[in-house]
Amino acid sequence: MEIFHISAECYPVAKVGGLADVVGALPKYQSKAGHQLRVVIPCYDTKFIKDHDFDSVFEGEIKMGNHHFHFKVLKEITDKLGFQLYLIDIPEQFSRTEVYGYEDDIERFLSFQIAVLDWIAQRDEIPSIINCHDHHTGLIPFMMLYSDKYRRLANTASVITIHNGLYQGQFGFDKLNYIPEFDLSHVNVLEWDNCINSLAVAIKCALAVTTVSPNYLNEINNYANGLESLFNTVRYKSKGILNGIDTEVWNPAKDKMLEKNYSVENFENGKQINKKILCTLFELDPAKPLFSFIGRLFEEKGGDLLPQASALALSENFKEINILVLGSGKSEIENQLKSLLVDYKGNYNVFIGYNEELAHLIYAGADFLLMPSRVEPCGLNQMYSLQYGTIPIVRRTGGLKDTVIDFGDNGNGICHDQASVGDICYSIRRAIQLYKDKEHLNKIRELGMKTDHSWERVCQEYLELYHLITDKI
Ligand code: GLC
Repeated sequence: MEIFHISAECYPVAKVGGLADVVGALPKYQSKAGHQLRVVIPCYDTKFIKDHDFDSVFEGEIKMGNHHFHFKVLKEITDKLGFQLYLIDIPEQFSRTEVYGYEDDIERFLSFQIAVLDWIAQRDEIPSIINCHDHHTGLIPFMMLYSDKYRRLANTASVITIHNGLYQGQFGFDKLNYIPEFDLSHVNVLEWDNCINSLAVAIKCALAVTTVSPNYLNEINNYANGLESLFNTVRYKSKGILNGIDTEVWNPAKDKMLEKNYSVENFENGKQINKKILCTLFELDPAKPLFSFIGRLFEEKGGDLLPQASALALSENFKEINILVLGSGKSEIENQLKSLLVDYKGNYNVFIGYNEELAHLIYAGADFLLMPSRVEPCGLNQMYSLQYGTIPIVRRTGGLKDTVIDFGDNGNGICHDQASVGDICYSIRRAIQLYKDKEHLNKIRELGMKTDHSWERVCQEYLELYHLITDKI
C-alpha cells in the first residue's frame, strides 16, 4: 500500500510533543512491513531542515479568500529516516521558529492542508491511505470527499488519528471561502457548535477514527470537550490503538545520550552511574531516591500541581528525597517551580526548557517518574521510563491506565486516582517505602523493562485497520 501520514510534527524534523515521536516512528515500522510510506509536514525553520538537503518535486499556487500563496513540495534526499519525508514550503506561513502559537495558525494549517491535497491529487499514483493526525489536518478528509478538485482521491481511504481531543481547531464561517470550492449542500458537515470545528469535521468525514490508546477512547465518549455526542455516533468506525515507542531511539543498551548503557540483565550499576552524573549536574544527592517530571507545564499534564506537591514532599521528607523537573509551559508554573530553589536547593532542581539529551539521561538516572496528568490520551513518557527501569507514578487516566498497573496489584508502577497534591504525595510516600526494599524495587523495575511496547506489534493493528477500510471502498 502507499500510505501518507499528514501531520504538523515529525521527529526528528520538528518536535513539540509526543505527536512528533509517533509520526517519526509508526511510518518507519509500516515501511519495514513492506509498504510505501510518505510523511508530509510543513517546512519550518528547524535545525534538521537547515542541515538537510531537499529536492523540489512540485510547485503550486493557493488562493484562500484574498490570500495568495506560492508553495513548493520538498523531498528529503538522503532517505535515512526509514520513510520518505516531504515538506510543504510556504515561506510566509511556515518560515518561523515555532510550530504553533501564532495568531494566524488557522490560515497557516489550512494552506498546508490545501497544498498537500493539490500535490497528492495530481500525482500519477493514487495513494491507498491518507492518515491525518490531530486537528491541524482535520479538513483533509472533508476536502477529499467534497471538493471537486480532489475527485481523483475518491478511492483513497482517510483516517484521523486523535492524539489530543482537547484541541480542535475551531474557526468562524467568515473563513468558509478559504476552503476550496465544494458542493454547498454539504456545508453543515463543517459545523459543530456554531463554528467550523476541524477535529469534528475529521471525525465525521474520515473512514476511520483512531485514538492513541483504548482507554482514551472510552473516556473520550464521556469527556471530549464538547464532542461527546459526536464520538458516540461514530463508535462503529472508531478504534483505540495504543502507541508504541521507537526502541531504536529509546533503548538503554544502545542509547548514545547516556553516560553508561545497561540492559535488563544488569541494570543496577548502569542506572547508578547515570544517576550520579545527573546528580552532579543538578547538585543533588545520588544516595537518595530521585523523582523526576519531564513534560509540558500545563494543567492538562498536572503541571500546576507540581510546585505544591514538590514543596510538600520535600518539606515532609527533606532529608530523604530529590526532585528534578524538566519542562516548560505556563510562566506562572515555571516561576513557582523556580522559586522552590530558594528553600530546597540540594534536594531539588528545575530545568526550564526542553532538551532531548537531558531527557534521555533523566529516564536512565531517575528512580521514579511523576505523571500526574489530568488528561493523557496515551502518554509516551511512562513507556520510556519503564523501558529505562524507572518506575512511573501516574494518575489512572487515558493511556496511563492502559500501560501502568500498581505494584500492589503485581504491576510495574505506582498509581493514584485523583489529580491532586494529596494523591501525588501519597504516591511519593509509597515510593519512598518501596525504595528501601531494594529487592522488591528491582523486581518492579525488571518487570517494566521487560514490557514490550515496540511498534512492530502496534503497526500491525494500523495495517489491519487500513486493509479493513480499503476493502470497503
Ligand atoms: C499527545 C498526547 C499524549 C500522546 C501523544 C502521542 O501529546 O497528549 O498523551 O502520547 O500525543 O500520541
